[in-house]
Amino acid sequence: MKGYKEITIDLKSTPKQREKLAIMELNSFFNPRDFNIDLKDQKMTLNLRALDVQQFTLIKNTVEADLETENQSLLTSIEESIYSIKNYGIKNGKRVFVDFDSERKVKNRALKEGRRGKYFYATNSKYIDQNTDFPESFQNQIICGDSQQMLEKLPNNCVDLVFTSPPYNFGLDYEGGEDDHNWDIYFKKLFRTLDECIRVLKFGGRLIINVQPLFSDYIPSHHMISQHLMRRKLIWKGEVLWEKNNYNWEFIEIFCKGEMKKSGEKDLIDISADEFKEWVVAKWSVAPERNMKKYDHPAMFPEKLVERVLKLFSYKNDVILDPFNGAGTTTSVAQKLDRRFLGIDISEQYCETARSRLD
Ligand SMILES: C[S@@+](CC[C@H](N)C(=O)[O-])C[C@H]1O[C@@H](n2cnc3c(N)ncnc32)[C@H](O)[C@@H]1O
Repeated sequence: MKGYKEITIDLKSTPKQREKLAIMELNSFFNPRDFNIDLKDQKMTLNLRALDVQQFTLIKNTVEADLETENQSLLTSIEESIYSIKNYGIKNGKRVFVDFDSERKVKNRALKEGRRGKYFYATNSKYIDQNTDFPESFQNQIICGDSQQMLEKLPNNCVDLVFTSPPYNFGLDYEGGEDDHNWDIYFKKLFRTLDECIRVLKFGGRLIINVQPLFSDYIPSHHMISQHLMRRKLIWKGEVLWEKNNYNWEFIEIFCKGEMKKSGEKDLIDISADEFKEWVVAKWSVAPERNMKKYDHPAMFPEKLVERVLKLFSYKNDVILDPFNGAGTTTSVAQKLDRRFLGIDISEQYCETARSRLD
């Protein structure tokens, strides 16, 4: 049927009256312009435009409960066919199966990209495509010290993903030091630490940094940091606006070293298709961490934020580094998600908290 994604299921025999009634009942729950099932002889066709799949499962279970066991497999095969479609958009809670990417279509796209020069600022980067094993002695450790100095002890190209939020220089009461430096001094120090992060990052690794600009000082920290990373010829992969549901928002900047493609074994990917579809958007609505008093830290990541970043941008067993690990949210979530990790913070108190959050 034109304008629909069609799935045809060949039946082993002509459907019985009960099965025909079950299909009719199923059809009656949905707007036929969004979803309908056509049953003819031994052939069943699903016509899909948009469907709330969770609602579908609930309705299917209700209809199925009225059927005899031998007929249940018909409805299950419909459900399995719908869930097996991996290419869809999401709109108003429904999976959209047709025309969801039509506005993105550009004729002769590759040719035009070639003419423009994709990520021209990061070409000829001279990063070496030779990765190193992460040293055993640093594996799954929380280390207290200045991160720039600590990172100098690591070899080149041994970390899969850096995820961090640096001190923002807002004047927060961190246990281990001041947070109101002259901006010039602040950025010089931060950039030296980020340069170390880039050095230890694998070719194809990702550096993801969460920053809140200081609007009252008119300092666009997220732009200044991004500009530095681009000057270092990292490839900008994207930006997420983190909406904190408290009239505040922050930015997450995503960069790659050397190439965009992430190598690794497919079996180690642990993000589900639904998580991917829900999270691969430019705005995340995630509430701030509620346990900051409990962990006695003024600026923690919520675990949900770290989970999204790690599942989207790393695989199981990857090495995750947080050079400003604070109360250890990155390292705790990394451990829960079967990643290896290294967390560094200048405050021994925060390092102790981070260790206490590990199993
Ligand atoms: C925004 S907080 C990170 C919080 C962390 N994401 C969490 O979930 O708890 C920044 C951290 O950087 C640490 N820090 C500041 N200067 C540092 C340095 N030179 N080396 C290592 N850590 C430092 C601070 O102690 C603070 O815990």
